[in-house]
Amino acid sequence: SQAAEEPAVAAPIGPQYKEEKPEATVSTPIPHSNVHILPQTPQLIALLTMIRDKSTVRGDFIFYSNRIIRLLVEEGLNHLPVISHAVTTPTARTYQGVKFEGKICGVSIMRAGEAMEQGLRDCCRSVRIGKILIQRDEETCKPRLFYDKLPEDISQRYCLLLDPMFATGGSATMAVEVLISRGVPEERILFLNLIASPQGIQSFAERFPKLRIVTAFVDQGLDAKNYIVPGLGDFGDRFYCI
Ligand code: URA
Repeated sequence: SQAAEEPAVAAPIGPQYKEEKPEATVSTPIPHSNVHILPQTPQLIALLTMIRDKSTVRGDFIFYSNRIIRLLVEEGLNHLPVISHAVTTPTARTYQGVKFEGKICGVSIMRAGEAMEQGLRDCCRSVRIGKILIQRDEETCKPRLFYDKLPEDISQRYCLLLDPMFATGGSATMAVEVLISRGVPEERILFLNLIASPQGIQSFAERFPKLRIVTAFVDQGLDAKNYIVPGLGDFGDRFYCI
């Protein structure tokens, strides 16, 4: 669609009390109700600016990525069902609140998705986390499932699928197919992602209309090597190696 092809635009961002607002490139909008892009706040844009900068050293890359991952997990948890729950406070009054209903698990797409596991554990203390390894088959050039280790009762759980960079979507699509083949209904899968390509996220959202995607940013596109641009380079290398 037209919106997905439009490049991300520079828009003024900033708090209401400040008259002069800096300009920053904000996420490309995606016209699909199952794609949830984090609010383009000055905080989020500053964090993304840090991790996109090629001169950011590894320690800072990890620190600022973790802050964005925390925002994604917190927003992702908003998509899980809650039920009414009343508590009595120390002032002997009742507070009518809610509590989470249902079991969850994380599933990381190796290796970069593993970088998001700690952020999930920070919010959900003893969460079960499964893993999926998908790599490109050198002969067919198609994604191939090499390894998976998933909780045995995964079909009873909401699954938070973790992968920081969504380029062509080949791995994420195969990972979702693996989850569905293990009995996880599409509507119980939540895909958490830092930066997506517009073409990848759009076709993924159309292919899995009941699955929800929470991303921090939809970027401008892909280069000839299928890297996201402007992107941040190879997330796994920057988080684990460089
Ligand atoms: N994976 C990455 O780490 N970066 C990209 O740009 C695309 C896929």
